[in-house]
Amino acid sequence: MKIGILSAGGDCPGINATIRGVGKAAMTFGMEVIGVLDGFTGLMFNDTIPLTERQLSGILTLGGTILGTSREKPFKKKEGDVIADKPQLIKQNCEKMGLDCVVCIGGNGTQKTAAQLSEMGINIIGIPKTIDNDVWGTDVTFGFDTAVNIATEAIDRLHSTANSHKRVMVIELMGHHAGWITLYAGVAGGGDVILIPEMEHDIDNVNRVLLERCRKGKPYSIVVVAEGIRKERRSAGAFIAEQIEKGTKLETRVTVPGYTMRGGSPSPFDRILATRMGTYAATLINERIFGKMVAIHNNTMTSVPLKETAGKVRLVPHDHFLIRKAMRIGTFFG
Ligand code: F6P
Repeated sequence: MKIGILSAGGDCPGINATIRGVGKAAMTFGMEVIGVLDGFTGLMFNDTIPLTERQLSGILTLGGTILGTSREKPFKKKEGDVIADKPQLIKQNCEKMGLDCVVCIGGNGTQKTAAQLSEMGINIIGIPKTIDNDVWGTDVTFGFDTAVNIATEAIDRLHSTANSHKRVMVIELMGHHAGWITLYAGVAGGGDVILIPEMEHDIDNVNRVLLERCRKGKPYSIVVVAEGIRKERRSAGAFIAEQIEKGTKLETRVTVPGYTMRGGSPSPFDRILATRMGTYAATLINERIFGKMVAIHNNTMTSVPLKETAGKVRLVPHDHFLIRKAMRIGTFFG
């Protein structure tokens, strides 16, 4: 068999560990492996590289993706498109290259495209990846643990400077639709207020809580917000900070770790998860099982039909156990 591997959408720590897992396991089954460059763009332009033992060595700990990525969505027409029918071109190219399967490593958007290509008769296996942890059909995605570690360290470092200056520190974390990173890093970092897109907040209540903390003699407060609490992107932290300063007259500062949460080496947890997902994908292909997304349920590898995951997002439920526990120790959710 000959298989192609691509990574699409925003990058995250653990993609290279996954490529290595798929590739090395596929080789033990005697498969030929190629890398498709820059996501679905590579499938449109036959932009590929051979993946041999040599290319797959030494990449376990590398951040980013050795294959490059893009946000190309072949089923979405956009202005200036020169290719009339991108999905059809992709299908023809897969046939020309003799690919028995394409492994698509990506988040929700990628899994949707993967499902559509699979419907067209291309053999596809999806592997979920994103720091946001919002891919429907799997308990967790690799990249999330690393991002939570980085975000938690950032929050940890805010405590001492906030204390010295008696300030409110607002930290904005990634998570456009889902507040998983903000919830986990917020709790791990001891945030006093946590605001996630899934839960409405009232800024007057937030301000009341912050003033109440002052009255109780707490010299500073940490407010952890997800970027997705505002529709207008990349301004949630600044917006909240402004409203806090205006409403409480407490000196307030904003920190945005941004892409540092997505870059660099994956955590040991993510390396292991990526390796498990990658090798499991190769096993499915070897058994000629296609049209599935690799998933982990209760720490056991499994797969779900791609068409079931397409178009869905896994959000934080309001009754999530961590929200309940955090509320019990006085964390405010807006
Ligand atoms: O999906 C991962 C993510 O990092 C989100 O948290 C963030 O909103 C988005 O990607 C940023 O996308 P881009 O790489 O296009 O700026």
